Amino acid sequence: MHAAENKVIDEARQGEATVVSTSLSNEKGKVYIESYGCQMNFSDSEIVASVMAENGYAGTRNMEEADVIFLNTCAIRDNAEQRIRHRLSELKGIKKHKPEMLVGVLGCMAERLKEKFLEEEKLVDMVVGPDAYRDLPNLVNQATDGDKGMNVFLSLEETYADISPVRLTGNGLSAFISIMRGCDNMCTFCVVPFTRGRERSRDFESIMQEARDLFANGYREVTLLGQNVDSYLWFGGGPKKEFRKLTDEERSNAVDFADLLEMVASISPQLRVRFTTSHPRDLTDKVLEVMARHNNICKYIHLPVQSGNTRVLSVMNRGYSREWYLERMEAVRRIIPDCGISTDIITGFCTETEEEHAETLSLMEQSAFDYAYMFKYSERPGTPAAKKMQDDVPEDVKGRRLQEVIDLQGRLSLQSNQNDIGKEFEVLVEGPSKKNPEEYCGRTSQNKMCVFPRGNAEKGKYIRVKVLACTSATLLTEITGYID
Ligand code: SAH
Ligand code: SF4
Ligand code: F3S
Repeated sequence: MHAAENKVIDEARQGEATVVSTSLSNEKGKVYIESYGCQMNFSDSEIVASVMAENGYAGTRNMEEADVIFLNTCAIRDNAEQRIRHRLSELKGIKKHKPEMLVGVLGCMAERLKEKFLEEEKLVDMVVGPDAYRDLPNLVNQATDGDKGMNVFLSLEETYADISPVRLTGNGLSAFISIMRGCDNMCTFCVVPFTRGRERSRDFESIMQEARDLFANGYREVTLLGQNVDSYLWFGGGPKKEFRKLTDEERSNAVDFADLLEMVASISPQLRVRFTTSHPRDLTDKVLEVMARHNNICKYIHLPVQSGNTRVLSVMNRGYSREWYLERMEAVRRIIPDCGISTDIITGFCTETEEEHAETLSLMEQSAFDYAYMFKYSERPGTPAAKKMQDDVPEDVKGRRLQEVIDLQGRLSLQSNQNDIGKEFEVLVEGPSKKNPEEYCGRTSQNKMCVFPRGNAEKGKYIRVKVLACTSATLLTEITGYID
């Protein structure tokens, strides 16, 4: 989740074209997938690619030659949706020359708008929610026959556990593994519980198998994904239950997040394990202790705080207070002294006062975050906040508060990097740096990007580096050792 620069990250990434598979006999057509939003969506696109490839579709990176175009969409803030609308209007031009080309809208915006999409955007042929991707080949066939199709059914069980994702983007070193789907938290501002449905955990054995396969194929880093990884719980399937409500037998077989993390870490000391997102209410000392015990579990936690004021946290329904959050931060620092910590912040949530905003700034300062993703509150139709509260902080006030948060984080990020000067870190070599191909780059366990003169560094190997200087986004380093 780290971005190159310390600025507002809107929807984390722009739409990114991804290739499904290049050679297929009996090819039915070519599919082009563009993904928006969080890592979960990027990971889902790999499931979509797999389902389509199984059904005879080859991939293409060239939208012009595609028979089917899928946009995997995000609904988290209004501007995320505006971007998709804009993209659809661009697609109109292509469809004019090529009327047989099919356009499918997938993901969270599809789930939120459902049939409205087909009514409002005439060029859309398919609207498919995050739990209905197995139905895609069927919907494509239907659309080829001229029937617009929709499947926005949300499931209590679907985890796509048996589908082996086609790795679309990336460097062949790092991959995402979805360990759960949906969210039961109901933060009042958030659309995710409505677009992704109830929380459910994936069978741990299928997670282990996926991680082992990745390692065998040369991957050296996996990121376990869930909206709230700390509530991962596998006890043999079926709808989610709380740990205390399990039968004795279920309890003795249950795997929680700390157990899962430890199992994945045990695959090989050469395989780095990352995860996101942790929830401050649910992050346990057990997880922190597992992290501290294993060198290959990265010392980095993304722990979204959202606000530094207890009353605002309560109207957000986050389930913790300012003091609770600060206590969890202390636990992280105590158990993993060298842990990198990032957060998410929303400015101008309903009823937030100037004093309450100032508490967000003071919490940031106290927590000394290494990095933050910062957003203005954007009301999402259908959420508890939209139904029950007034979006009463004026746009310019939201914007000014956001700028204050960004400015402060800029200072904190720079400070955090300056504190690393003179220290040594273990880095997984990723390859040539984007800005300067003469140099190589890779990340520390704390998720900080390092650049260094190549020396004998090889992609996929671990090295030690010493930090010589920094910017607010990058550590400038030199190699001090090679690790076998
Ligand atoms: N599951 C994760 C985050 C998912 S969404 C968690 O619980 O933290 C990523 C981030 O988007 C959130 O942490 C929040 O900061 C931001 N966000 C979510 N809904 C938003 C809204 N309506 N307006 C502005 N930002 C929002
Ligand atoms: Fe949204 Fe809250 Fe769930 Fe995160 S934990 S996805 S913010 S409802
Ligand atoms: Fe967006 Fe859906 Fe992720 S709303 S942030 S793509 S879960």
